[in-house]
Amino acid sequence: MASRFGLSLQLFILFIFGDLVGTDSLDGLHYTSPDYYPSPNGGWVLDWTSAYEKAQSIVETMTLAEKINLTTGTGYFMGPCVGNTGSALRVGIPSLCLQDGPLGIRATDHNTAFPAGITVGATFDKALMYTRGVALGEEARGKGINVLLGPTVGPLGRKPRGGRNWEGFGADPTLQAIGGALTIEGMQSTGAIATLKHYIGNEQEMYRMNNPLQQAYSSNIDDRTLHEIYLWPFAEGIRAGVGSVMTAYNDVNGSACSQNSKLINGILKDELEFQGFVVSDWLAQIGGVSSALAGLDMAMPGDGAIPLVGSSYWGSELSTSILNGTVPVDRLNDMVTRIVATWYKMGQDKDYPLPNFSANTQDRTGALYPGALFSPTGVVNQYVDVQADHQGIAHAIARDAITLLKNTDSVLPLSRNASLKIFGTDAGTNSNGINSCSDKGCNDGVLTMGWGSGSANLPYLVAPHDAIARVCPSAEFHITDSFPSNVKANSRDIAIVFISADSGENTITVEGNHGDRDVAGLSAWHNGDDLVIATAKIFPTVVVVIHAVGPVILENWIDLPSVKAVLFAHLPGQEAGDSLTDILFGDFSPSGHMPYTIPRSESDYPSSVGLLSQPIFQIQDFHKERLYIDYRYFLHANITPRYPFGHGLSYTTFTISEPIFSVVAALSEYPPSRPTKGPTPTYATTIPPVSEVAWPTNLTRVWRYLYPYLDNPAAATSKAPYPYPTGYSTTPQPAPRAGGNEGGNPSLWDVIFTVKVKVTNTGSRPGREVAQLYVELPESVLGVDIPALQLRQFEKTDILSPGENEILTLSLNRKDLSIWDVVVQDWKAPVDGQGVKLWLGGSLTDLRIVCDVGNRVCNGV
Ligand code: NOJ
Repeated sequence: MASRFGLSLQLFILFIFGDLVGTDSLDGLHYTSPDYYPSPNGGWVLDWTSAYEKAQSIVETMTLAEKINLTTGTGYFMGPCVGNTGSALRVGIPSLCLQDGPLGIRATDHNTAFPAGITVGATFDKALMYTRGVALGEEARGKGINVLLGPTVGPLGRKPRGGRNWEGFGADPTLQAIGGALTIEGMQSTGAIATLKHYIGNEQEMYRMNNPLQQAYSSNIDDRTLHEIYLWPFAEGIRAGVGSVMTAYNDVNGSACSQNSKLINGILKDELEFQGFVVSDWLAQIGGVSSALAGLDMAMPGDGAIPLVGSSYWGSELSTSILNGTVPVDRLNDMVTRIVATWYKMGQDKDYPLPNFSANTQDRTGALYPGALFSPTGVVNQYVDVQADHQGIAHAIARDAITLLKNTDSVLPLSRNASLKIFGTDAGTNSNGINSCSDKGCNDGVLTMGWGSGSANLPYLVAPHDAIARVCPSAEFHITDSFPSNVKANSRDIAIVFISADSGENTITVEGNHGDRDVAGLSAWHNGDDLVIATAKIFPTVVVVIHAVGPVILENWIDLPSVKAVLFAHLPGQEAGDSLTDILFGDFSPSGHMPYTIPRSESDYPSSVGLLSQPIFQIQDFHKERLYIDYRYFLHANITPRYPFGHGLSYTTFTISEPIFSVVAALSEYPPSRPTKGPTPTYATTIPPVSEVAWPTNLTRVWRYLYPYLDNPAAATSKAPYPYPTGYSTTPQPAPRAGGNEGGNPSLWDVIFTVKVKVTNTGSRPGREVAQLYVELPESVLGVDIPALQLRQFEKTDILSPGENEILTLSLNRKDLSIWDVVVQDWKAPVDGQGVKLWLGGSLTDLRIVCDVGNRVCNGV
């Protein structure tokens, strides 16, 4: 275990808290981060061969300084992007631009502000997931961004109050995995390198980072839970060919993610055979040698313990540690080869644009290195419009995500002649300007996205107010959060109340919430409950529209007789208004489904998923609920939520019928043996000449810029080696049996069963239906406890007219039917599906077909 802190502090913490994380157990579970060295080299996976060959041919000609340049950021605010590497221009590699983020290009102009990940998850629409990825990639490329910092698949949504759950696709590993993988495929089809983040266990914002007084919290996760829940979307993203993975700020099992050799060397690079490069989250690196040996390949933004003073854990320090023999040359070569191979793999060697924007200012000209105090200046923003026709994609996602939770008496859709009265600031716009709060660090006007690095500037905003006024000119608006005293209702009136719940990244505090919803809890913001209750007292018909980052408790008003309809519109981005009117007035039927559970009370969750806080010392966040998060827990504890995972009504009705079950391949208990590893690039391992990191004579130095050069490189060779992490070894580890290709043993993705179903629109309006497939695995056969139902596949129809039908095929692979066997360290399945049941339906509580896999038969429920 590599830890920054000394033994005495660990022992003190142990004394205080009684748990020695790293080797100990709680409830019989082991929370361990065993040493895993040396770092596996990339380059043997077939799909990457040509990229690695190209990379090898130039890496072998690179100097030590050029190699270090590509591994280390140039420093905070030291370039146009949120992260910038040094360059190796002599061999044709420019400084690489790394820029957020998961829903749009952050902190720039003329970009699309797409709906957030959680909104995309709610569509349950694979085509839209992919198309948004393509559009994001095109915008990144258009701005000259080499590495786009998304998608987010961690946090997964374990903690309902967690600040950044909305960046991802939903509180279920399969939904998160499919959303993430399709986003990556889309992004990378354009040549942009996608970044899968944050690896791993970053389920809470508060106390995520190290500071001089406190270590970042430790997410203590047992091996099976890690594999079956949190690692699942990362594995699928790696299988999709993601080019980079970002490590999280927090520790896992007592070892920081940026230098956790088990997580990076062991799981990511050996078991999941990740071929791209591993980048630290910003300032998450806490040691130079320790992170290099544990498998980190790129340090961002490059700064050391104290940002902006020109020091780095790598940069010139990495030069020294190569010259004095501490970090093996082979490790540095692998870091650089991974970065360069990824650049070639995405085709960035061919006409890839250079950055044409600045994340630091909106001005046309400015400092090239704003962190430098004295910086050369020049044109920094060219205001390149990268939006193309992406508005339509943003609109379709926002619309198809809207989830109809309740619709008593079919009060929706509304007539265009209805007498409407609209309440709540969430229907309006931010009066100070749509981008007035940096990184969306305020909740003012309609909530289009959460706050922090996962946000983007809105190029324009169609607020619900504007869109409703256009469709229904007689509508009356009261854009306030307290119910106006002068409003009267007549019996024909329909009130629409807009409420919201926000959250974001820990760097910004909004209305007392430190990223996580620590103050607001799961309640609507701005007294939203009171506004609904006051409206419902007077109006006979009330429609509630919710824009939210995650679960909101609705109990104060959901059963009031006049609250007839509820639309959960998630985080819609720039198309908030028009996407909503499409649904409100019936141009489209709602087809979104909840990507998480809405409980009746926050106390319905297991206590272990609450936020943890503690002023000093390290927080130990034990994942005691294990596999049982979100709906897995509600089923396990037999608690009926208000609205289950997957719930979503329509204006029409559907049947799901005529199931056809097919066996595609035999299912053995364990996968067939993995492919053996092939060779990886080899280089001379001699320590390079010191002259390669001497200051070039013609260089104009920029103060605080992180260079790889040394004042006295010769002295570095005789400098005593830096200390190694305990447990370091140069003996290669045996190839993990669960590995074999990107994502793991390729046979895990062999399709075993398919179920075809006929979905028929039996109502009177056009609409789309989602078929969700949940697996029930036999505990007795597999010998462990297993969540009762687990989503493993879904498909969505096109728009079906009344009477029309569509055949959907849902396929399950070996991994979908397996549990992680912690003893064998492999995926274990019930032979030929013995004892497995498959449940299909429109939500977790609307299951209409069950297949008895052992008997190869499906029936209506
Ligand atoms: C920190 C955030 O956690 C990460 O998601 C983001 O990509 C970086 N900052 C860069 O902005």
